[in-house]
Amino acid sequence: MQEPDNIYRSEVIKEVDQLPCSHPASVNIDVANLYYSFTKMVRPLLVVEIGCFIGFSTLHFAQALREQTFGKIISIDAFDWDVDTGNGEQNRQEVAEYYRKKSNMEDIITYIKGYSGQVYSDIAKDIEKKIDLLYIDGDHSVKGAFEDFNTYYNDVRVGGYLILHDIFPSMCGVNGPRVLIDTLKKSGNVPKNLDLIEMQTRDGFGISILRKLNSKSVKVTPAIDDVSELLVKKVWRKITGDSSPSLMTSNQQIKIIIEVVDGETNKPIEGAEFLCPQRWNEQRLTEANGQVVLDHYLPNRYQVNISAPGYSTKEDFLLDVKAEITEQNFIIKLDKI
Ligand SMILES: C[S@@+](CC[C@H](N)C(=O)[O-])C[C@H]1O[C@@H](n2cnc3c(N)ncnc32)[C@H](O)[C@@H]1O
Repeated sequence: MQEPDNIYRSEVIKEVDQLPCSHPASVNIDVANLYYSFTKMVRPLLVVEIGCFIGFSTLHFAQALREQTFGKIISIDAFDWDVDTGNGEQNRQEVAEYYRKKSNMEDIITYIKGYSGQVYSDIAKDIEKKIDLLYIDGDHSVKGAFEDFNTYYNDVRVGGYLILHDIFPSMCGVNGPRVLIDTLKKSGNVPKNLDLIEMQTRDGFGISILRKLNSKSVKVTPAIDDVSELLVKKVWRKITGDSSPSLMTSNQQIKIIIEVVDGETNKPIEGAEFLCPQRWNEQRLTEANGQVVLDHYLPNRYQVNISAPGYSTKEDFLLDVKAEITEQNFIIKLDKI
């Protein structure tokens, strides 16, 4: 039998998941579910989140806290722009507060408005040396990621965890968390003071889970080399279209070329719609040559739908994207109605 809490969770979370503004700023639902499960395993008393956007990830952490019947989450966000919830532009803090209330999480979630570096002093006494789980998903610039780490890491309890989101720059387009991880590794803090794993996620943005192993204070600064290395790779990719000089072997991205043709004549079909539900309903139309080119797929099996006017729709066509083949072609034939 499903617990009442779970029914509740699916209703509110489904609603937030489906708001026009939700993704990709909010984490992918699979990643959010992982946060929920991870929180249930860690059983924290205090979770601190930097960057809640409209509270999608927050609701997942909070749900786990509610089910374990103890624990609170403090979530900080600048709330500095409005969002489209389907009823026009709305104040983002109000949206987050609305869902906090709707899910009866008022006693579990506290939202703090402000920049993480600036509000630290206001909440220091509540979080000092008390954080069991710190989630950093705020300012993803190098400066921002280092500032958040250096400001909040000391308040994580020994044995506590940090989660960093967006660690694969070529997919998420930001490099702060990446440079932070590489700097921690190079500085010898990993594995001496911090245990660290990097994980690929369904959206390709990736997360890293770090565990604090001792009470040693850790402060890091980005080396110019780390920043410039990433910039060089970014520029290289732009110029050559080649994503191979990647820092992340666990993040191999594959270029796939889909060609949609007439099942009888093999002629390319222009304007056919390609839809991939596994990648946030990614939607593309074929060019005059019948092709859609996607350079960011992961080695996975994807079920896609292809439709075109005058043709019967092909549903759940299997794209078996293999690892280690950097470019893969798929021809999809459609039958005339
Ligand atoms: C990617 S969104 C967070 C998404 C959210 N964690 C989720 O998955 O549902 C990043 C958020 O961080 C906030 N932000 C960026 N820099 C910040 C800072 N220095 N302090 C507080 N919030 C910040 C932005 O306003 C934005 O809402």
